Amino acid sequence: MADEPLVLGIETSCDETGVGIVRGTTLLADAVASSVNDHARFGGVVPEIASRAHLEAMVPTIRRALDTAGVKAADLDGIAVTAGPGLAGALLVGVSAAKAYAWALDKPLYGVNHLASHICVDQLEHGRLPSPTMALLVSGGHSSLLLSEDITTDVRPLGATIDDAAGEAFDKVARVLGLGFPGGPIVDRTAREGDPKAIHFPRGLSGKNDPAFDFSFSGLKTAVARWVEAKRRAGEPVPVADVAASFQEAVTDVLTRKAVKACRENGVDHLMIGGGVAANSRLREMAQQRCDRAGIRLRVPRPGLCTDNGAMVAALGAEMVWRDRAPSSLDLSADSSLPVTDVHVPAAHLEHGHFHDQAYDALGGGEA
Ligand code: KG4
Ligand code: ZN
Repeated sequence: MADEPLVLGIETSCDETGVGIVRGTTLLADAVASSVNDHARFGGVVPEIASRAHLEAMVPTIRRALDTAGVKAADLDGIAVTAGPGLAGALLVGVSAAKAYAWALDKPLYGVNHLASHICVDQLEHGRLPSPTMALLVSGGHSSLLLSEDITTDVRPLGATIDDAAGEAFDKVARVLGLGFPGGPIVDRTAREGDPKAIHFPRGLSGKNDPAFDFSFSGLKTAVARWVEAKRRAGEPVPVADVAASFQEAVTDVLTRKAVKACRENGVDHLMIGGGVAANSRLREMAQQRCDRAGIRLRVPRPGLCTDNGAMVAALGAEMVWRDRAPSSLDLSADSSLPVTDVHVPAAHLEHGHFHDQAYDALGGGEA
């Protein structure tokens, strides 16, 4: 294996333009430009606004990351980029930028999966992931339990949400309570003033005959909306902090219980939690308590590395280089629904040894 590689990672799957630079498992720069304020008045991310903001932020954010890291683009060992899943137009900006830099600098390109990146980012904080690692991935678009032996090659889903993602539920409940967007951080803060036992909200898919590792948050969201609506109709004040705390308790209870069970049933003694919702203070606290009781080692990155950023993409890219995985070809496409099992998009359709020729052909062929 090579020395610890220097890799730049670009993330543009949603509303954050993230550019990170890592050397192996060491974080050197994590530059993020967010368009979140441009979306707030719409109550959700507007794809066209996000794409335009990525385009404007891309070059300055790359420059800022290089300056912070104190490295030259020419010294990079590779360029990694989120190839999916995410918003198609937003992804396209990042993928196009990564291809342009890889081409101009003559560096290998690694199109990687956003979800595997959310897992791999923990290497920047707690060192290389053990094999196997159980990952609870909870973001605005996904909620899954994933088992991985090697984060550069295999991610096996054990279960996932059958309706809303955990982060989506936070965002919708925040809207019902009139707390603003994005909801997760505000619900988290508001819940600190409330009683998590004030209201018992339903725990989705927690019955004996329900699938053990799938999640459902849509019923919970509806239950919260109905409860709040009933209060308002009765002309009574809504105890916002109690609702936030009780809702958050229901989400974290289900997430942590299922994650610990997944570890136990698969004989895995390391649990990693990643994605934006992993920034949640109650989830972190409850996960720690339950893992301690079950003798499981818990790994959760600091909150700033849980939400979308470029460092996570660089972290997975660096691991790809370090483990000598094949780069992507320069005709890499963004795939808005890239399956979680596709950790990276190698030049799989190209014959071994003909990577460069065929990549050039593909570019010349038009559809880049
Ligand atoms: O991973 P992420 O930044 O973007 C996606 O890949 O989706 O996750 C964003 C989600 C949003 O739904 C946001 O409300 C939620 O993560 N989130 C939180 C917290 N911080 C962000 N949810 C609960 N508590 C938080 N502190
Ligand atoms: Zn994400």
